[in-house]
Amino acid sequence: MANKVLVISGTVSPVDKSYSLELTNQFIEEYKKNNSNDEFIYLDLNNEEMAKKTLSRDNFSSFFNENDAIKYINQLKEVNKVIISSPMNNFNVSALIKNYLDHVLLADQSFSYKYSKKDGSVGLLDHLSVQILTTQGAPLGWYPFGNHTEFLKGTWEFVGAKVNEPILFAGTKVKPTSELTPKEAINTISDKIKEVAAKF
Ligand SMILES: Cc1cc2nc3c(=O)[nH]c(=O)nc-3n(C[C@H](O)[C@H](O)[C@H](O)COP(=O)(O)O)c2cc1C
Repeated sequence: MANKVLVISGTVSPVDKSYSLELTNQFIEEYKKNNSNDEFIYLDLNNEEMAKKTLSRDNFSSFFNENDAIKYINQLKEVNKVIISSPMNNFNVSALIKNYLDHVLLADQSFSYKYSKKDGSVGLLDHLSVQILTTQGAPLGWYPFGNHTEFLKGTWEFVGAKVNEPILFAGTKVKPTSELTPKEAINTISDKIKEVAAKF
């Protein structure tokens, strides 16, 4: 069966200098070897107005509108796989990704409290398989209080999605990785990409 794959990217780096975009490209290249008939929909959040809107007191009543929220929730309902990439920005996902999630995490649309047990919830996007691809400037472990990869994993699981093993490429700002082009850098984890893509 051919899959419909939504590819969401939230980096603010220039396209040719982005490690997370290179990771995404190499992942898709590898994934396509096993899934040649799949359809891909690309969502660069730099081009989406909703991803630039931050929830505030002033816009609360209009924030979850048809164009900024429902349209994107419907898009998630119409695909069966999501590949989402984000760099770490100030110890979390980029603001573009946060704004995207703030729009699509909507009660009774992507999750429900209705049938839940105490303190629980029911994810309404349980048809989705999600691949998380993250980068960060610092090597893993420098900032244990910041973990955007786990944040994304928990959030997609909250809406019921099955999350494949995430790939974090850490240390992009530190030598020797910082002296490599994104392509050279991501090439160093090609075996990992191959292994994870085969499971997605
Ligand atoms: C505004 C901003 C904030 C950042 N904050 C962090 C951070 O908190 N921790 C970290 O390890 N790297 C941080 N970085 C570095 C980026 O995560 C890293 O350069 C990443 O590779 C950039 O995205 P890319 O992979 O798409 O090129 C930050 C970069 C920018 C531009």
